[in-house]
Amino acid sequence: MTRKHIIITGGAQGIGRVMTEEFLKNDYNVSVFDIDSEAMEEIRPHFDKRHCEFFITDVSNQVSVRSSIRASLKKFDAVYGLINNAVFAIFKPMSELTLEEWNRAISTNLTGTFLCSKFLIPYLKESTGCIINMCSTRAFQSEPDTESYSASKGGIYALTHSMAISLGPDIRVNCISPGWIDVSAIKKSSKAKPEKLTREDHAQHPAGRVGNPLDIARMALFLLDPANSFITGQNFIVDGGMTRKMIYV
Ligand SMILES: NC(=O)c1ccc[n+]([C@@H]2O[C@H](COP(=O)([O-])OP(=O)(O)OC[C@H]3O[C@@H](n4cnc5c(N)ncnc54)[C@H](O)[C@@H]3O)[C@@H](O)[C@H]2O)c1
Repeated sequence: MTRKHIIITGGAQGIGRVMTEEFLKNDYNVSVFDIDSEAMEEIRPHFDKRHCEFFITDVSNQVSVRSSIRASLKKFDAVYGLINNAVFAIFKPMSELTLEEWNRAISTNLTGTFLCSKFLIPYLKESTGCIINMCSTRAFQSEPDTESYSASKGGIYALTHSMAISLGPDIRVNCISPGWIDVSAIKKSSKAKPEKLTREDHAQHPAGRVGNPLDIARMALFLLDPANSFITGQNFIVDGGMTRKMIYV
């Protein structure tokens, strides 16, 4: 069986890193596009060079995206899947949020999703492939001071169904909206912190626990599986039930 090749943006840390591990375990070849060279150099020795390659990429920059796509196609030939996962998240009061910070959130999260998808269209059409966009439950509900992040994720939600209609039936496009997924320990060593979740953190979830990156990786594996080809244009909330809970005090 030939291994299918997928590209995961922001695959060097957090949920993206665990998705990289899980897709490799499930016989995919993986190209990681990430801006953080330190994080990539740290994990590179732990992955099988034959099946995983790392490309320094700024997803918000079209020259960088095109050059990484060219390099990854040189290594792995065709491409079957794209997971738009890279993120810039900043939470601060709107009155203090600079235009530069706002633009960085929109350009990394939303424009980055557009650029990586746009330049892969011909290849994904050829492989009858799949795109998964990482959205968030914050596209649908909010805590204070999350405007740039929430707006970028709302854009990703709409971009997903729009792309599904334009690119089908050749390319399926779905998004996943995680709730609280603890990634504090899955960072490069200069940034990693031990997990410090409390009993209350877990207990407030209808599912009884905070999420972990494997919860998201499993959903991504399901959506990329060609056997699930009737699913497109959809958003899948993976949040332990939090968005179904009424919280009136
Ligand atoms: N962790 C959560 O609780 C949670 C909840 C909802 C949604 N999400 C979504 O899941 C995805 C992964 O989140 P995470 O918590 O694992 O993030 P993370 O911060 O741990 O990792 C993000 C990765 O993206 C990379 N990145 C940042 N800017 C980039 C750029 N311009 N080009 C390429 N790579 C870039 C970073 O270097 C990093 O490796 C994101 O889209 C996020 O919005 C996460």
